[in-house]
Amino acid sequence: MFDLSGRVGLVTGGGQNVGAGIARSLAAQGAAVAINDLVEERARVVAEEIAAQGGKAVAAAFDVSSGAAVAEGIAVAEQALGPIDILVNNAGVPPGMGLTPFREQDPDDWTPFIDLNLYGVLHCCKAVIDGMCERGFGRIVTISSGAGQVGIPLGISTYGAGKGGALSFMRHLAMEVAGQGVTANSLALGLMASGTGDDTAAIAKTVPVGRVGFPEDIGAAVVYLASNEAAWVTGQTIGINGGNLTS
Ligand SMILES: NC(=O)c1ccc[n+]([C@@H]2O[C@H](COP(=O)([O-])OP(=O)(O)OC[C@H]3O[C@@H](n4cnc5c(N)ncnc54)[C@H](O)[C@@H]3O)[C@@H](O)[C@H]2O)c1
Repeated sequence: MFDLSGRVGLVTGGGQNVGAGIARSLAAQGAAVAINDLVEERARVVAEEIAAQGGKAVAAAFDVSSGAAVAEGIAVAEQALGPIDILVNNAGVPPGMGLTPFREQDPDDWTPFIDLNLYGVLHCCKAVIDGMCERGFGRIVTISSGAGQVGIPLGISTYGAGKGGALSFMRHLAMEVAGQGVTANSLALGLMASGTGDDTAAIAKTVPVGRVGFPEDIGAAVVYLASNEAAWVTGQTIGINGGNLTS
């Protein structure tokens, strides 16, 4: 079950933390993986690590918020590995993201969150969707957040707006391509180890399962959604959050 041999995946923002974990999980199930990141060095290190373990991976550095860069970057990755069967829209944290209540924000502050979390998803989906539909197989998984589903008083309203917009887009896309063998689902993550800094132990106590999330928790869910076995799952948002329904 969940064998991905012969499939080609692309993980955006795959150069560290959650994205790197997803890339490793896909490769462990036999998929060839293009590791995208804004930071070329991060993508290269993860690709080399996967190759050293016997997997097949290439680095694919480009900015997902630029439509032209996405089209060019995906074309280069497809030349190396073949057509993308599995797209994981994971990039979602703009460099230097801070926590700022909406009343203290300037309109210029909104742009990175929407560019990355909404336009980034649209650009990447646009670049692969025709090929997936023509070949009769595709799996799109967007990594979202509880912040896209519920209000949280942390100063992340515009991040949440981008995440929520992508959740809605994925549901519509799923319906448009359901007859072509392409599924589109989202994972709404709770707090991950990478996002907690020094507060890990305190925050873990608020999670019913008793811990924050690790990249392999997300990788396992992506592997399932990417598999042949998940053909009847589409248009869904699945919470991967240790039972924490409020973040
Ligand atoms: N960390 C958490 O607690 C948490 C919680 C809920 C949801 N999420 C979501 O999980 C995903 C991964 O989170 P993470 O904590 O691993 O993030 P991270 O910041 O550790 O890593 C994300 C990677 O994306 C890359 N990136 C940023 N902008 C990019 C762009 N424009 N184009 C290409 N790559 C870009 C960065 O260089 C970085 O290597 C994100 O979508 C995030 O919103 C994270």
